[in-house]
Amino acid sequence: MSSSLPRVAVIGAGSSGITVLKTLAEQGFDVTCYEASDRIGGNWVYENSNGMSACYRDLHINTSRLRMEYSDHPMPESYPDYPRHDQIAAYFDDYVDHFGVRDRIRFETRVEHAGREADGTWTIRASDGTTERYDALLVANGHHWDPRLPEPAFPGSEDFQGEQLHAHEYMNPDGMHEKDVVVLGMGNSAMDIAVEASYVARNTYLAARRGAWIVPKYMFGKPTDQLRNDPRIPFKIRQKAMHRLVKLVVGDPVKFGLPEPDHAFGEAHPTVSSRILDRITHGAVQVKPNIRRLDGDMVEFQDGTRVHADVVVYCTGYKITFPFFDEDFISAKDNRIELYRRVFRPETPNLFFIGLLQPLGAVMPLAEAQGRWVAEYLKGEYALPEQTEMRRFMAEDLAAMQKRYVASKRHTIQVDFEQYLVDLAREIKAGEQRAQARGFALPVPPRAAAEAEPAAA
Ligand SMILES: Cc1cc2nc3c(=O)[nH]c(=O)nc-3n(C[C@H](O)[C@H](O)[C@H](O)COP(=O)(O)OP(=O)(O)OC[C@H]3O[C@@H](n4cnc5c(N)ncnc54)[C@H](O)[C@@H]3O)c2cc1C
Ligand SMILES: NC(=O)c1ccc[n+]([C@@H]2O[C@H](COP(=O)([O-])OP(=O)(O)OC[C@H]3O[C@@H](n4cnc5c(N)ncnc54)[C@H](OP(=O)(O)O)[C@@H]3O)[C@@H](O)[C@H]2O)c1
Repeated sequence: MSSSLPRVAVIGAGSSGITVLKTLAEQGFDVTCYEASDRIGGNWVYENSNGMSACYRDLHINTSRLRMEYSDHPMPESYPDYPRHDQIAAYFDDYVDHFGVRDRIRFETRVEHAGREADGTWTIRASDGTTERYDALLVANGHHWDPRLPEPAFPGSEDFQGEQLHAHEYMNPDGMHEKDVVVLGMGNSAMDIAVEASYVARNTYLAARRGAWIVPKYMFGKPTDQLRNDPRIPFKIRQKAMHRLVKLVVGDPVKFGLPEPDHAFGEAHPTVSSRILDRITHGAVQVKPNIRRLDGDMVEFQDGTRVHADVVVYCTGYKITFPFFDEDFISAKDNRIELYRRVFRPETPNLFFIGLLQPLGAVMPLAEAQGRWVAEYLKGEYALPEQTEMRRFMAEDLAAMQKRYVASKRHTIQVDFEQYLVDLAREIKAGEQRAQARGFALPVPPRAAAEAEPAAA
């Protein structure tokens, strides 16, 4: 390790943190990864000791194995197309050992505070009582661990006689035997939990305030996300084709009693399920509009119908939260966070966010690409555009996202998988030329690194 490169801290050893850790270590950085849990894998560790994982007993990925794996470490051939959480967690574990970076991870060490000093360096205070200085900070703390409950709460929820829980707390349907269960939401948590509940509950109701296009896990015998999606073809054309295909293969959601989507395919985060429609057509899941209020042991819906309920599961999404930053430094109110290509904060040249995106596709290869990008930047081999250019890009990007997506707190960090990778590769090329013009100057001086270097004997 050399003090000529910045000293780097990474927060989180989930699938985003481990790939940046690996890239930075490979490229000679003195890099330390703080991990609150006793193991790596974050969201994919069932009963994770960090208390932050949303994993339930029968969770399977909904982006296919080939879409999810890192570019230089394939998932085992023996895996199915949509492996279960324990296989995914084992794959991440293996990645860390394969690239020999486990000893860079400080397990059971939660970052309690990350503060930026006047000279720009970061002071990281951790739960083991240590305080350390770094030149650069990569945040990979995940964005699916802080539950968002309905805002405002439904009238009557305070006095509801049954159980109310968020999808984040859901582990398995064992407690739902012969119960009346209301599941709220139209995202992937709602689909999975309604299906699971429907096998054991007396009644399962799926309530939603908005419809969705249901995407099956397979089309034409292939995982759906393996179908050709060439970003060189204009989005509108691909969107139209996919919209028609989903309507043709799956059918109109209205025919299954689901609310009519108020948007075209591709204008909301995809709801992937090969099982929900089956359970609806079997009468095992009954569709309802949004909840109006809770009343004793009853749930009343917007259409005035009322059902008895023992359990209400709110599958209403997550908040983006950074508990270790001072709120006046950075917070993501209503999940809004302004970043250049979802990574860089123009006013803070040594702070980076990894995996803080919601792709139509899997997160992992995108986090991997982001890690390579940040490494090039920190080595001075890539230079950012001017601030005004970054701000112009961010404003346009935000406007395009708002124009395309349904207005919702779940649609603030959306990207298209292929497009993001293509755009990033193009941007990196342009930035390499800028870096050359600037004489490959390091954008972040290695102050903390120089201090951390042991004195010569
Ligand atoms: C139920 C569910 C299913 C999903 N399915 C898919 C899927 O099929 N495909 C897909 O691409 N995405 C899926 N996602 C999205 C999910 O966010 C990613 O799969 C993935 O977990 C993102 O990895 P991450 O490393 O960014 O975050 P996480 O997996 O959440 O990992 C964050 C890590 O940071 C650590 N950490 C957090 N705060 C601190 C701190 N202060 N100090 C130290 N350590 C800290 C945590 O302990 C954790 O290990 C799913 C999400 C959910 C909720
Ligand atoms: N098997 C899997 O791989 C799997 C399983 C579960 C989750 N996931 C992933 O985990 C992430 C989170 O998914 P999620 O389903 O938990 O959350 P989500 O995608 O944010 O969906 C939240 C849902 O709740 C609705 N909602 C929010 N507030 C509401 C309110 N007050 N009243 C009524 N409805 C409300 C939203 O409707 P609006 O659209 O109107 O806002 C939306 O339908 C996603 O990336 C998802 O793909 C994957």
